[in-house]
Amino acid sequence: MREQLASIISEATAAAPAIVTRPDFEAFKARLSGPNGSLTSAMKLMASVPKEEKPAAGRLLNEAKAAIEKLLETTLARVEHAEAAARLGPPEDPTLPPPDDQEGLAHPLTKVREEIASVFHKLGFTVAEGPEIESEWFCFDALNTPATHPARDMQDTFFLPAQTRCAGTSKHGSEAYVLRSHTSSVQIRTMLARKPPIRIIAPGRCFRRDTVDATHSANFHQVEGLWVDKGVTLRDLKSVLDFFVREMFGNSAEIRLRPSFFPFTEPSFEMDLRSPDLGRLSNRWLEVMGCGLVNPKVFENVGYDPGEWTGLAFGMGVERIAMLLHGIDDIRHFYANDLRFLRQFA
Ligand code: DAH
Repeated sequence: MREQLASIISEATAAAPAIVTRPDFEAFKARLSGPNGSLTSAMKLMASVPKEEKPAAGRLLNEAKAAIEKLLETTLARVEHAEAAARLGPPEDPTLPPPDDQEGLAHPLTKVREEIASVFHKLGFTVAEGPEIESEWFCFDALNTPATHPARDMQDTFFLPAQTRCAGTSKHGSEAYVLRSHTSSVQIRTMLARKPPIRIIAPGRCFRRDTVDATHSANFHQVEGLWVDKGVTLRDLKSVLDFFVREMFGNSAEIRLRPSFFPFTEPSFEMDLRSPDLGRLSNRWLEVMGCGLVNPKVFENVGYDPGEWTGLAFGMGVERIAMLLHGIDDIRHFYANDLRFLRQFA
């Protein structure tokens, strides 16, 4: 029996390196430990071994079994590894340049957002961020926008289901979550988190229940700006916006501030832009963004002393700026994923 087991092991060890595929392996395993396998037949011989030799024979058999199991294990691991390697193909060389035409490019809205950020960066503004899902307090109440304001209507804003309401930061008990309708909510988050002076812009995605057409999209992007310091005046607002517009649209661009209303600024304005370099829109006043001086009520809502702090704020649509800058006449081009359109901004 000793010789028989030794030859089973040596034959199996010699045969193992030739096993390369899974079916080969299964056949190999069956030849050894299947119902008619050589090891199985050797085990059957135990019955005929005299009683006094049984313990020694049993030990030999167990050792042989362990050796064969180990051999099967390492052979299977090698076969599986080879199979996986064959599936993956030859290893990639990560240092090779990408194949032609496969290079990605930034989306035009990303590029314009980055340009806007870099202009404000020159004036000392840093980028702040906030969540796209906001509670009503951050999106409206803290920004002095009362419950009766049309922006808070179901028709204008995406409200999350009633079961997601939160305990509420407002005095009116529990409040709903909304997909933020503007990035002005980041003003509040930033003022609560930091002490003035503050100079931030907040680029980000916004959501409104707009019917999609050439100038509206339910999902769009804004850049909000906020500057809080002592003695900030309208002159600062006009200078910041003037600088921004000239950097973005060229030195011949002009701005004008037209009185308007926003709950979070007082006074409030629409900023219009005019430039001789805007193609078919040249030399017409075009509405570009809302702006104003921070309403003292907003400062009170975040615990800033309105007697001490003053501020300016503005908010613009990234799509609007990109459309003016590049002469794009339909907002839907930005979201259609048509490479013929997107590649023009490479
Ligand atoms: N949040 C306004 C909107 O979405 C834009 C805006 C207007 C932002 C005036 C401001 C501002 O910061 O002062 O229409």
